[in-house]
Amino acid sequence: MIKIKTALIGMLLFILVPPTQASEKGIITESGYSEVMLDLVNNMQNILFGIMIEDYGQVSNIAEDIAYHPGPELEKRIALLNKLKLEAMTFKLHEDRVRQNALKLMKAADKADRTGTLKQYANLARSCTECHITYREKVRSFIKK
Ligand code: HEC
Repeated sequence: MIKIKTALIGMLLFILVPPTQASEKGIITESGYSEVMLDLVNNMQNILFGIMIEDYGQVSNIAEDIAYHPGPELEKRIALLNKLKLEAMTFKLHEDRVRQNALKLMKAADKADRTGTLKQYANLARSCTECHITYREKVRSFIKK
């Protein structure tokens, strides 16, 4: 419940804070996503471990963590979305896809459904990769060192 609340507040802030405030000169020195992504890949590894030892409680908890994972700091996120311009929409759709697939994985794990859990794990991993195909290098190219 608390996680859902945090996610909602995050979303609300995102709607309320005017984008121009964040990225003054449009220069970004980091995407803000690096740490977020390292957490995510850690979670994916721990889920896989959970599947292998058939600890579906663990799988379900971590899948929920992925679904409601905190994003980068708001200011960094807004700066990046500004850089992406119209593509910000698609970028956010990829984030939504990950959230939905993580929740499906959570539900399959809650039922201790072996086949379903494996299937949803694969779908979740695919939704990570689908964003990377388009955006990993692109986002990196925005970063001025
Ligand atoms: C909405 C797009 C998007 C989604 C969805 C996404 N990623 Fe990423 N990911 C990125 C971007 C952009 C980068 C590059 C960030 C940077 O270099 O600053 C990245 C980088 C990474 C990296 C490399 C981090 C590094 O510091 O080199 C890992 C690992 C990673 N993502 C894992 C995941 C996992 C696991 C998932 C799914 C649970 C996922 N990502 C979902 C956009 C996404």
